[in-house]
Parts: sequence; structure tokens; C-alpha cells
Amino acid sequence: MKKMTVAITRKLHPVAFQILQDAQLDYVVWHKELPPTASELLNFCTGHAGVLSMVTDHFNQHNIPALAQQGLKIIANNAVGVDNIDLDQAKKHKVLVTNTPDVLTESTAELTIALILALARNLVGSGQFIKDGKWQTWGPLDHMGMELSGKTLGILGMGRIGQSVARKMALAFNMQVIYLKQTALKQELDFPARPVDLATLLTESDVLSLHAALTKDTRALIGAKELGSMKKSALLINTARGALIVQAELVAALQAQQIAGAALDVTDPEPLPATSPLLALPNALVTPHIGSATREARSNMAKLAAQSLVSYLKEQKIPANIVR
Ligand code: DGY
Repeated sequence: MKKMTVAITRKLHPVAFQILQDAQLDYVVWHKELPPTASELLNFCTGHAGVLSMVTDHFNQHNIPALAQQGLKIIANNAVGVDNIDLDQAKKHKVLVTNTPDVLTESTAELTIALILALARNLVGSGQFIKDGKWQTWGPLDHMGMELSGKTLGILGMGRIGQSVARKMALAFNMQVIYLKQTALKQELDFPARPVDLATLLTESDVLSLHAALTKDTRALIGAKELGSMKKSALLINTARGALIVQAELVAALQAQQIAGAALDVTDPEPLPATSPLLALPNALVTPHIGSATREARSNMAKLAAQSLVSYLKEQKIPANIVR
């Protein structure tokens, strides 16, 4: 019988390699700085029983059938989001998909809060003001931001990360939390929060933070109409997926100061070209998809992804973090 092997689509934390070596699961690693192109991905993954993939790798109707035919059994995505994988195709071709829940919740929530604070107090713009040599005096009307205490935080997507952000902002920053009513929360909330419909979420939030998974139902959820119904003083934060927002319509809303500002850790497309009009806006703050970029989260993600491959391929166990 042919030996089962794994393709790892990017250099990642060494803990993953150690886990695979300990389990005597051989692997190959994509060593280039940039991710494989679509054809390179297909070639690189062909013949392997497992793939340890990144959010930048797209698995779809063009490559899943061919890879499955050549023995692919599992894609362990090194991310909690799995919108880079066509789950229907994976199901159809009996390819298991796993993700990395929990281990990046706190890091992503902390980045979200950093963005809320940075935007509410104009940290980037006021820091630049000094660097530009413009600071001449302390001014009673200068650099005014928004105090968060007592304001309303709207959460769209009350999953693990949404809850962590909401809990911290309710308990440590005294924000009133509202969230988009959803069918069933996995557990009862342990902080005060009120479920509301989308219209109320949009009109009442002083800070609206997006944490929903990207699906066909959530794609382009926030566009001109939704932005138009928000408060003029509102801040929009996105650390989930760029395509939740119609980006051109957000740019227009920010240019027209229809909302006060936006902080985006995720954009559409990624990477965001340096020529994007978003980057020229004083009321937009953009970071390069760094929600899980802490040493703790990234090593635990690599560990969990590698463990998923070992469980399924070597121990014939279905990992708990199965997505499909
Ligand atoms: C995720 O896990 O989905 C992030 O976007 C990548 O860390």
C-alpha cells in the first residue's frame, strides 16, 4: 500500500512539523514566501492524503475532485474560517475538512478591541500629526474622539470571537451590548446583551463589530443601504472577512462621512493594493489580516491542524474540530 503523506502549503510554526514527525507522517512543505497559484496548488497537493492549508489556498470544484481521485482524504485548514474551501465539493468527494476554533479567539478579540480603541481615539492620525511636525500646542478642541463608556456596541456574529469582544467591552469598558438575533446561541451569555434585528443593530450601534463567517447569506451584508442607516458618529470594525462588506460602498460612505470611521483587518481583495482608495482615507484604519497573529494563537493553530491530520490519517479518528 502507498504510504500516506501530507502537503503543507506554507512554512508555519515548527510545532506542526514535530507532531507529524512524532506520528511518522511524512510531509512536504511549500517553501516560497508567496502562496501557490491555483495550478501550483493542484500540482503540489496531488497524491497526498492530507493537506494542511491556509486561508490563501482555494479548494473548489476545479481541484477537489482531482485531488480526491488521487487519494486526498482531509484538508486541515490553518484557520477558523473555511470560506476558502467549497464544503459541498468536499462532502461530495468525501474529503474531511477541519479548522482551528478556540485557539485564536482571544487573539482575534484582542485585536478587535485594539482597533476599536485606535479608531475611537484616532491613535494613528494623531501619532502621524506629530511625525508630520504639526504639533504646535495643546488645543482644547483638538483630536477629539469618542468615549466608549455607556455607548452601544453592536455585534454581528455572536460566536466565540463576537462573545469574547462583547464580554470584554461590556465588563471592562461599560459598553451596552446588542447583537444580531440568531437562531441558537451555543451557550447562554454570561454578560448583559440584548438580541435585536438587523435594522436595530445598524441604527443603534455606536460601534458595530463584524464577526460572522463568510457564507452565501452573509456575503455583501453591509452595503450602501446598511451604512446609510447607521449613525453618522458610528464606527465600523471588521476582523472577520472582507467580503461581508461591499468595499466600494464603504469607501463612498467614509468619503461622504456618512459614518465616522472604519477599522478593517480584512479586506476584499486581500492583499489590498497600495493604490486602494481606502488607504487614502483619514477615517479608515487598515491592518493586513493579523487577527490571529500572536505567537500563542499561531503556534496553537499549527498544532491543532497537525493533530487533526494525525488523528484522521494515523489513528482513524474523526477530529472534534471537523467542519464537514
Ligand atoms: C481565521 O482563522 O479564519 C483567520 O482569518 C486567519 O487566522
